[in-house]
Amino acid sequence: MIIKKAVGILRSGGLVAFPTETVYGLGADARNEQAILKIFAVKNRPKQNPLIVHIRSTDELYEWAAEIPPEAYQLAERFWPGPLTLILKKAKHVLACLTGGQDTVALRMPQHPIAQSLLQSFNGGIAGPSANRYTHVSPTQACHVREELGQKVDLILDGGACEVGLESTIVNLSGSEPEILRPGCITSKELEEVLGQPIKVVGKENGTLAPGMHQLHYAPRTKTILFQSHEMEAVLQNLTQEKLPVAVVTHNKTFNDTANIDFIKLSADPLFYARELYQTLRWLDRKGYKTIFIENVSTDVAWEAIRDRLVKASGMMQSLQEKN
Ligand code: TXA
Ligand code: MG
Repeated sequence: MIIKKAVGILRSGGLVAFPTETVYGLGADARNEQAILKIFAVKNRPKQNPLIVHIRSTDELYEWAAEIPPEAYQLAERFWPGPLTLILKKAKHVLACLTGGQDTVALRMPQHPIAQSLLQSFNGGIAGPSANRYTHVSPTQACHVREELGQKVDLILDGGACEVGLESTIVNLSGSEPEILRPGCITSKELEEVLGQPIKVVGKENGTLAPGMHQLHYAPRTKTILFQSHEMEAVLQNLTQEKLPVAVVTHNKTFNDTANIDFIKLSADPLFYARELYQTLRWLDRKGYKTIFIENVSTDVAWEAIRDRLVKASGMMQSLQEKN
């Protein structure tokens, strides 16, 4: 019933927020220019920052992409439906407003049952960036979408908390070599196993290819500082000289709160850490801390997406490679 309503809204050019296994998306008919422009307006997102098109099956790659290299099939077969986005050369009809004027298009087949049933009933591609205002933390629960976008969305489909909690891994297959534009829970190691070749993470500013990679992104509004585990003692000693209150996010050791210094311990398991991260940042952001200090995580590949988001949340512009 609610899916029928959602489809009606999409068909008439409206916006429907929907859950995926990664984060909530802000959906619009990917063939409707006016609807796509609404997404940019509601998110306050620059028009050159392209959107992902959510599709139902690998067969639909043909509808959106002009060139489909064998790697696309290999990765789709292994990871779709799931938290993987592929960048391919776009088909002619694909709207320039969707791709930010680029000649490539981002495609993803989500696994969440509500996203799937929406796509099935809509019977077409759904353009869907994360359902947050530009540069802010992505929503992992329906109430976050409401907080971020309120009445500007025509309908929010509530699918509870997102299982992955971080945005999809983005792999660019439109160039000479596959490359990761955004790390996600599908790791570089898993991708390499399927592709049978090394894949590099492009974390640096590189022209206009992945606008989302460049800026202060995925960020809380509170000043956020990332520190290395070995700096923990020094950070703790200097905290009293900071403007208080502050929050300190760790994941290894537990500390007791002291006056105006709150400790938050996230999981030492990357899957759970990822699931908790954005809701924790969002919650901390509301509590009026002067600064949020976050302990950086392991350089192990299982943590690569989390490291990437922590760097972005703290406004540090270094690439992943530099951090490692
Ligand atoms: O998990 C996800 O990917 C979520 C869910 C809703 O699917 N979506 C998401 O979309 O995170 P968004 O728009 O917030 O992030 C997509 C990123 C942006 O940084 C955008 O610049 C990049 O993908 N992107 C989209 N199309 C691209 C293209 N043709 N070339 C390079 N980068 C592209
Ligand atoms: Mg986003």
